[in-house]
Amino acid sequence: MSAGPSDVQIAPSILSADFTALGRDIAAVERGGADLIHVDVMDGHFAPNITIGPPVVRAVSRVATRPLDVHLMIAEPDRYLDAFVGAGAAMLSVHVEAVPHLHRTLTRIRALGARAGVALNPSTPVSALEDVIGEVDLVLVMSVNPGFGGQVFIPRSLEKIRRVQSMLRAAGSSALIEVDGGIDTSTIGDVVAAGGRIIVAGHAIFGTGDPERATRALREAAGVAHG
Ligand code: DX5
Ligand code: ZN
Repeated sequence: MSAGPSDVQIAPSILSADFTALGRDIAAVERGGADLIHVDVMDGHFAPNITIGPPVVRAVSRVATRPLDVHLMIAEPDRYLDAFVGAGAAMLSVHVEAVPHLHRTLTRIRALGARAGVALNPSTPVSALEDVIGEVDLVLVMSVNPGFGGQVFIPRSLEKIRRVQSMLRAAGSSALIEVDGGIDTSTIGDVVAAGGRIIVAGHAIFGTGDPERATRALREAAGVAHG
């Protein structure tokens, strides 16, 4: 199945935004056509960086007009599901590597009224999803190791996206594949061609000096595969 740029949702990651001017930067990407606002939460345990928590998500939810896509890269995420949904997360993803009872966690996220996502680190096999497909609204394929913005896209991720897509199709699931890490105008086309439909980008948007224009440029490049 081929996708046009309009089938793709662009989710700018505010990790690379100016934290003293989040409202301004969010407004810029929304003018540029952002579909979602991606929020990277890290705790210094699961991921080797500390970023933001529920108070900032709540503040962002007051200014954003697009749904908040919150990516938890934290240990024991079950302890914080209520806080993040309460703060305004419309989509909440947990890492399969951080959760002992994934079925329970996903069920809880849905019960709270958010869409439930499962994130896979680059070294985690696709098979980790097999028994929870019915509970998943999105599968977040990490194309870098969690921790920092501005890392290089891991090429093997393309094959992984294709395998996730086959698994979802075989299961009759309509879950969307989200891809996160190292995506820019040179890689987005291949990611979309492989099956990615929610595209996260931080550095390629906020590292440019013109986030509005960079958001638009990414969507335009989504239809152009190189591989
Ligand atoms: C990585 C985060 C990503 C990252 C994306 O740990 O989950 O969302 O910030 O940023 P770029 O596009 O700069 O790789
Ligand atoms: Zn992320």
